[in-house]
Amino acid sequence: MTATAVEPDRQQACSPASGELDRAARRVLLTNWRGHATVPAARLYPHQWSWDSAFIAIGLRHLSPVRAQRELESLFGAQWQDGRVPHIVFDPHVPADAYFPGPSFWRSGQAPGAPGVPTSGIVQPPAHALAAWAVHTADPVASRARGFLPRIYPRLVAWHRYLTTRRDLTGSGLMSVVHPWESGMDNSPAWDVPLARITPVPVTEFTRRDLDHAAAGERPTDTDYGRYVRLARDYRDAGYADSLGVHGFAVEDPLCNALLAAGEHALAAMAAELGLPPERHRSAAARIAGNMTTMLYDPAAGLFFPRDAHTGRVLRSYSAGGLMPLVVPDLPVAAALVETALSDRFRLRDACPLPSYDLTAGDHDPGRYWRGPGWVNTSWLFWHGLRLHGERALAGDLRRRLLGRVRDAGFREYFDPLTGSGHGTDGFAWTAALVLDLLRTP
Ligand code: SER
Repeated sequence: MTATAVEPDRQQACSPASGELDRAARRVLLTNWRGHATVPAARLYPHQWSWDSAFIAIGLRHLSPVRAQRELESLFGAQWQDGRVPHIVFDPHVPADAYFPGPSFWRSGQAPGAPGVPTSGIVQPPAHALAAWAVHTADPVASRARGFLPRIYPRLVAWHRYLTTRRDLTGSGLMSVVHPWESGMDNSPAWDVPLARITPVPVTEFTRRDLDHAAAGERPTDTDYGRYVRLARDYRDAGYADSLGVHGFAVEDPLCNALLAAGEHALAAMAAELGLPPERHRSAAARIAGNMTTMLYDPAAGLFFPRDAHTGRVLRSYSAGGLMPLVVPDLPVAAALVETALSDRFRLRDACPLPSYDLTAGDHDPGRYWRGPGWVNTSWLFWHGLRLHGERALAGDLRRRLLGRVRDAGFREYFDPLTGSGHGTDGFAWTAALVLDLLRTP
């Protein structure tokens, strides 16, 4: 199977009934567009976020391939010299108190090799190569006319090189995330054990802005937030250097490593298109997928578990992140992952979106950030993986129910996977973008 599986089917899938959903999704993307990039949500997330832009580009390619290219180009315009792509690129026109932690916290301007524009110093899951190839294939003529691949490919290669070298903190051949925000699944119960070692910064020392725009019961607790601030501050004060000594929290995470492997397949397709040798990307994909399967896959659980880079211990938490390796072509344990998704823990046939965390766990919380609710992006990744591994019927069923959820509850940030009620912010860009992609990919 190749990365070309992200190519949209040429046939348009919009029935009259889906026309209103399609128009509403386009309105969200227009409202959140800032002329060079799309904000995830106007009030809660008023800057450009890294993996959000990857998912947004996947949807935007159906409206304007050029705008989708610009979405990725503006993000990679803020790439650091060491190859890292920051998780936030700040818009200097947005008031300083609109988001915390903002530019004055991260102080990227003082870090070696940071770009001119202010950014954060941490990263997010590497969904970008997958997105860039999807954007190219949506309109190869427009892509070639603008020289999109010749410009984005070397930047993607540098990004993956940063992750596979500086972020291989244990020498295992797997990348580590060094902050829960880097995992994309911020306060997943999977991080509770390693995070408990971190002393929180007292909440009196900073001002949370997220609670101005979302209910406290749907966001991380103050204690967890204090730990996030501690980890980010320590990294900043170390000049954003990467080593186990700097990072109090370091985890080899299946979602990021899976996206890296899938992204290498996409880079191989780009290299072939550019007349460059694709083999090194295919070997990198095979190496990462092999390491991940050997070190993070638990056959008894039918799931990938993250590993604490400090202790070497497996973090046995049934998170949807452990299902995400389904996005890797030729994954030998794909059938077992699908079985786990169908089990009571994730209830693929009726829970929707895919629950972020085990429905049977005592601490499952269907409304709190990444501790139970379902997101459209991880569901989209799983849907993409189902298609990649020939599970067309399950993929079609998931697609239909995802579209129904959003039609009923709106373009929410996340959803109770059993009742379908919407949570977090509204007008959420990747929900809209991925709905557009689902509508156009039957
Ligand atoms: N997702 C985190 C937030 O809530 C960090 O990017 O702001």
